[in-house]
Amino acid sequence: MIKNDLFLRALKGETVDRPPVWMMRQAGRYLPEFMALKQKYDFFTRCRTPELASDITVQPIDIIGPDAAILFSDILVIPQAMNIEVEMKDGIGPWLPKPIRSQSDVDQVVIPDIDEELGYVMDAIKMTKEKLDNRVPLIGFAGSPWTILCYAVQGQGSKNFDKAKGFCFTQPEAAHQLLQKITDTTIAYLKKKVANGVNAVQVFDSWGGMLSPVDYQEFSWKYIQQIVDALKDETQVIVFGKGCWFALQEMAASGAAALGVDWTCSARNARYLTGGNITLQGNFDPSRLLSPPSDIKKMVKQMIDEFGKDRYIANLGHGILPNIPVDNAKAFVDAVKEYKV
Ligand code: CP3
Repeated sequence: MIKNDLFLRALKGETVDRPPVWMMRQAGRYLPEFMALKQKYDFFTRCRTPELASDITVQPIDIIGPDAAILFSDILVIPQAMNIEVEMKDGIGPWLPKPIRSQSDVDQVVIPDIDEELGYVMDAIKMTKEKLDNRVPLIGFAGSPWTILCYAVQGQGSKNFDKAKGFCFTQPEAAHQLLQKITDTTIAYLKKKVANGVNAVQVFDSWGGMLSPVDYQEFSWKYIQQIVDALKDETQVIVFGKGCWFALQEMAASGAAALGVDWTCSARNARYLTGGNITLQGNFDPSRLLSPPSDIKKMVKQMIDEFGKDRYIANLGHGILPNIPVDNAKAFVDAVKEYKV
């Protein structure tokens, strides 16, 4: 039994004394303990070495004390396993030397055997579970098929993912084939993660908000819905679509246990659009963690009052930024833990 199961209870919609809290991208970036490991091992070595990945996953639990852990890994291990080369370059971020630009490129993309290509993730899960020793639940994750396509086609991060969108709009058949291959791989991958011990999964649609509402349905949501359908009887699924407030109503009817909200959507709007019955997660502006800790505490109290303490998971509206002082991250988590109605 997990000792602190507040996060799982909030996902089920149970009444709680205070909401649970965790932070997207809490493993790494701003923690000096993480930066020390970063000096020694390159990014994918950290992902592929279960000893390192599990240590990094547990660091924020020991240092900051959130109510859930998220496995240290990356959404881009999926395209890597599908025969798409992915590098992580200092100062640039993800770098794909041979981006997907044609039907024949899509034909080269494989649906891998998960144990063979991603067994290291499963080993990291098992080792993390041991190190967590049932203190808090462990979240597994994957990128949405659209967000993975963004990197696979663009070849790197982008302000507008113009090449990814251009590919979808000029070669829709090839794009849909690629999205389906990613979807099939992601479903098999997340099912294995659940079988190996993660307690919930989150789908990150970080670039869903790049699409118009109509294109979002066709190129992103359709595939996320397949993932939710395939996973919802085995685990609790959280869908986080950055900039996707326009799709919240549909998301609420999808079978997902919870929906992530970014800071551009008010709590009131998010509750209104989702009908008030589903667990919501978010939505503190990550840059607001630069405010003095006393301001952070006041704003967190206000945020919980607006969402309501039940059916709510306190989180940021996107990943924590690298330049956040550890004390400020801790103030955020502490403020949720100190919450009283
Ligand atoms: O939440 C966690 O702490 C778990 C670890 C995690 C990482 N990436 C580690 C990481 C998670 C959940 C991700 C997901 C991820 N990766 C997303 C979706 C979430 C989001 O932020 O929108 C995306 C879009 C990526 C792709 C990616 N990986 C980018 C754009 C970058 C470079 C920029 C940056 O620093 O985030 C990465 C690298 C990466 N992934 C780092 C970490 C800790 C930093 C690089 C390093 O440590 O060497």
